Amino acid sequence: MRFGYFDDERREYVITSPQTPLPWINYLGVEDFFTLVSNTAGGYSFYRDARLRRLTRYRYNNCPLDADGFHFYIKEGENVWNPGWQPVQAELDSYRCRHGLGYTVIEGAKNGLRASQEMFNPLGEHCLLIRLKVTNETALAKRFSIFPFIEFCLWDAVDDSTNFQRNYSTGEVEVTENAIYHKTEYRERRDHYAVFWADRKPDGFDTSREAFIGVYGSPAHPAAVFGTGCTGSTAHGWQPVAAQQFDLELAPGESTSLLFGLGYIENGHSAKWAAPGIINKEKAERMIAAWTDDSAFDAGLQALHVYWNSLLMKFRVSSGEEKLDRMVNIWNQYQCMVTFNMSRSASYFESGTGRGMGFRDSCQDLLGFVHMIPERARERILDIAATQFPDGSAYHQYQPLTKKGNLDIGSGFNDDPLWLIAAVDAYLRETGDWEILEEPVDFDNDPALAQPLVEHLRRSFSYTETHLGPHGLPLIGRADWNDCLNLNCFSEHPGESFQTSGPSEGPVAESVFIAGMFVKYGRAWAEILRHIEKANEARAAEQSVEAVEAAVLNAGWDGEWFRRAYDAFGHVVGGRECEEGQIFIEPQGMCVMAGIGKSTGEAEKALASVRERLDTKYGIVLLQPPYTRYHTELGEISSYPPGYKENAAIFCHNNPWIVCAETELGHGDRAFEVYTRTAPAFIEDISEIHRTEPYVYSQMIAGKDAPGFGEGKNSWLTGTAAWTFVSISQAILGIKPTLDGLQIDPCIPSSLQHFSITRRYRGAVYVIDVENPDAVQHGVREIFLDGSLFPGTVLPVQKEGKEVRVRVIMG
Ligand code: GLC
Ligand code: GLC
Repeated sequence: MRFGYFDDERREYVITSPQTPLPWINYLGVEDFFTLVSNTAGGYSFYRDARLRRLTRYRYNNCPLDADGFHFYIKEGENVWNPGWQPVQAELDSYRCRHGLGYTVIEGAKNGLRASQEMFNPLGEHCLLIRLKVTNETALAKRFSIFPFIEFCLWDAVDDSTNFQRNYSTGEVEVTENAIYHKTEYRERRDHYAVFWADRKPDGFDTSREAFIGVYGSPAHPAAVFGTGCTGSTAHGWQPVAAQQFDLELAPGESTSLLFGLGYIENGHSAKWAAPGIINKEKAERMIAAWTDDSAFDAGLQALHVYWNSLLMKFRVSSGEEKLDRMVNIWNQYQCMVTFNMSRSASYFESGTGRGMGFRDSCQDLLGFVHMIPERARERILDIAATQFPDGSAYHQYQPLTKKGNLDIGSGFNDDPLWLIAAVDAYLRETGDWEILEEPVDFDNDPALAQPLVEHLRRSFSYTETHLGPHGLPLIGRADWNDCLNLNCFSEHPGESFQTSGPSEGPVAESVFIAGMFVKYGRAWAEILRHIEKANEARAAEQSVEAVEAAVLNAGWDGEWFRRAYDAFGHVVGGRECEEGQIFIEPQGMCVMAGIGKSTGEAEKALASVRERLDTKYGIVLLQPPYTRYHTELGEISSYPPGYKENAAIFCHNNPWIVCAETELGHGDRAFEVYTRTAPAFIEDISEIHRTEPYVYSQMIAGKDAPGFGEGKNSWLTGTAAWTFVSISQAILGIKPTLDGLQIDPCIPSSLQHFSITRRYRGAVYVIDVENPDAVQHGVREIFLDGSLFPGTVLPVQKEGKEVRVRVIMG
């Protein structure tokens, strides 16, 4: 069942029922000021850090779900309703939500009154803008009132939801003619405040929640709206809110627009006050003045469209397969940008208060956005690398506001260092910016320890090289990519962190997955070394890689598939002798991507085993059979009920690894089949089963061992976005940036006869037409570059601004 449809022309998903299986959200903002907004106008805003600078309150885990947000109450006579249905839930005569790139429009109508609520965060500004347009569609004049309502968060979202003994006394506001200022803690150490404004003077306002909602009222039934209107309350402590009232009259057919904004203002410490106790509002007034007419609003929206065009034009496909085109051209790349901005911090599943930026997560996210914003990828690389320790290991997470490593979690996730090589390698392939390797970058954020970036890569490599276990495979530490495979921790007490309890490090537990990474990214490192004329070092690196590759084929091979690991007692994890968890997806994907066993047959066998043992109709599960009881020696993975999360869910992130691996072996049909199983646009028809947004990937889909088989969770913030973009753009469609130029090497379903791609690469435009006359899956017979036969498949770097035509004949 569907709850909407794709409008590819406008690059929107149009939701046609407010009662989607879960709130379906969108992200507004691309730089510092962000808003999450659902299809019923739930959500919240924050500046940079969703924990420390949260502007509006949002209750996760609430009942009813998703009641906090950016709501407008419309009251006509006794009738009260919201254009987005929530929170009053009055039945609407019509409803529609259009989630577009960086904006959302919610439209509702009741009794001949139509309201549309347009929202976006303008580029270069720290605010959310909302335009509410109301139209009287009847033949009679209408009188009604409109009440916008938001609830302020007292900045630190964790403190806000825990420290009530203090917070019930600290809330403060100031009210001006058309704006409400939230200034809690501004009297002491903060020099920032929030402002909610309207483009005109309201007929009433409230800033105390008790007054507007009522002590025992609810957002579904605010006392002021259902009673006699706003009371003019001033919040002192308790819960400061911004509510206003506008009494309007519309002639038959008449429309009017009201403009609102929610802004974040930082004043320098010395410029805090206009008068004793009165905040300096100069910057806020400038912001308000800039956005109080329709043409400014329209221009802001237009600038946003231009911005998204400029990003999405870097890679465009036209394949004749509508669902494929919309994933590649719009939604997959859009999701890559959102994961770039958010990492794993704020979604409807990530509270914004927990994890900061993950080292491995951010490095992988980069694979999906580097082609769109190489300058920001550069900056991101330097930020991440600066959190690395001098021995090459890395903080697992860092805080977006401070960019410092997070000590609570610390280091010891032994895959982390190698992801830095993956990220820099992708950046170099995309940009050819070799100078980045010379940039001085701190270790452990200490400028005294700064070294050129290339030294960071060297230490990433050597960290793994020098931390091998008894079988010559890399030691796993606290965990590798699979955060939940905790082989050195042995946690026995509820509430303990599975990853950081116990000794956490050990000289025995080894990871076949990291071994695969070491082979793949170790080879990339050697190639980089050759390019900077360090041939001896490259050869030495390759020797280490070969030794680990041999160890994988020896101790890491189970006969039909790659093993997963060795635990702290030297027992196999992910082997046929295991009681549960006999085969895992990760080493099959990574080892085959690394080319291990490609010439000797193990790679083919491993992928056949995936198909035979891990495939389901909704995607490939992470392992089989699932763990049915808790294994202290394995950790968190066995804490999940069978079929959920890392315990045998369809963990979407590693499905594209299998796609890439299949293309390594030339299996285009199978690669595309795996791709389509989890690609959101291809499963739109089962939205009632999948439940999460049909336009973005979720971290996981419940596996076949779970009662909720097929149900998605943790939508939006997942490495799935980047990896599926890599798998479809590079592995399947075959447009591969290399250190020397753009390689064309498609591996497609044999039924695909023709497709074309426009790719902007290092300042030039490649217009590529691929023909597949013999219905093959792989293989390039001829390439014509601007009409002449071109030898090989790697197209040389072109002059800036040049446009070349490339004709590719497969066969
Ligand atoms: C989560 C984490 C990611 C990890 C994955 C598997 O998605 O963000 O870092 O690799 O889970 O455990
Ligand atoms: C939990 C989750 C995993 C995530 C990790 C982050 O272990 O299951 O997916 O990567 O938390 O710390």
